[in-house]
Amino acid sequence: MHRPLRGAEKWNFHRAWDRASHCQAIALFHCRRFGKEDVPMTNIAVDQNKRARFVPAPDNRQILEPDAWAPLLVTKAEIDAEIERMSSMPLEPGTARASLIVHPQSTSPGFGLAPGMALSVNVLNPGEETIINRDNANRVEFCIRGDGGFARIGDRAFGVTQFDVWTVPSMMQRYYRNASNTPLVWFSYSNVPLLDKLGIHYSDESGIAPAAILAERTLIEKTYNRDNAPDIAIGADGARIRGYEYLVDIEAVKNGALHWAWQDVTPYLSHAPNDGKRTIMLLYNPATERRNGTTHSFFATLTSWPAGEKRPVPPSGHRHSSFACNYHFLGRGSSIVDGERFEWQAGDLMLSAPNWSEHAHGSSLEGASVLTIQDHPFQIGVEALIWQEKMDGPILTLGSEPGQAGYVGPRLAGD
Ligand SMILES: [Fe+2]
Repeated sequence: MHRPLRGAEKWNFHRAWDRASHCQAIALFHCRRFGKEDVPMTNIAVDQNKRARFVPAPDNRQILEPDAWAPLLVTKAEIDAEIERMSSMPLEPGTARASLIVHPQSTSPGFGLAPGMALSVNVLNPGEETIINRDNANRVEFCIRGDGGFARIGDRAFGVTQFDVWTVPSMMQRYYRNASNTPLVWFSYSNVPLLDKLGIHYSDESGIAPAAILAERTLIEKTYNRDNAPDIAIGADGARIRGYEYLVDIEAVKNGALHWAWQDVTPYLSHAPNDGKRTIMLLYNPATERRNGTTHSFFATLTSWPAGEKRPVPPSGHRHSSFACNYHFLGRGSSIVDGERFEWQAGDLMLSAPNWSEHAHGSSLEGASVLTIQDHPFQIGVEALIWQEKMDGPILTLGSEPGQAGYVGPRLAGD
């Protein structure tokens, strides 16, 4: 006599039965979970779609080139029209007023402006506020309009005005408020397309931010943790064998939201020809350590080419496996990407360096200010970042071999 199935047993049985009823091929299936006396050996079919396939491996003698998307210019007029459309729509409680800017070559899952980066435009009208669920993506955000915004990311709160940059670390709930009389508009750059492609994008409504450092540990936690786990050298070249504790008790690196107010950053950028200041600076987050990111996925740089000095597009560009997305927020200029010329002005957004495309930029006499986002730290983390500063120069694997010394900006020799 069969005993009744309980809990997970019942669920597993139905799952097995379900599989059998949708079968194409017949296989012998023994449900070990219930024992022979409960469920006898049964002929149950296995769905062919659930079997692995064997296909020829790629020919590793083949020379590969990264498969870049086309460069793309999204004009200020297009962005303004979308902001206008969104502003006229009601903001439902618990939602964000946001639109993704999607590259025409992007496909689901993971719509983006670049294969691994989504860019959304977010709008809050005067007096509005919104809470956005935490998720396991990371973000760089940039205020393109507004003078009285407020953001709370995890346990960090700050005011937001035009041209401020801030980060949203993984698994932190976001709250935004517009206390001004003008719309608050910001870009949000995320790695969601990559998470979607991997099938690992997670979100929930919890307001609890991850703790950076573990609190008091129990006795068993004190006994079995990274600090006292086995850690033994194998050979003399650095290989080691380590306890499982190393996998689950990973050293925590503090990564709270960071905020670069434009008024604090701009004094360090060049604003007059030959003023001795740098024309490009990185917004560095120490949590990214030697990967020199603004988040664990992206770096953000601010470029300031001062007015009064025309910078023609150099005759030769450089290229890198990281993509670059430029938002031009002051001035005007030009870019040449794989031989195609683009003219841009303040308010224009551009996928200005699709992965491994040769690109170079210049500015007009008006000068130009540009926010650049690249997935540089992510690619360093997986040892994929290749960089060619001169088109007839070496291809360097940045982060794994000596890098490109002598440069303070693309093709500008250091002093
Ligand atoms: Fe570049």
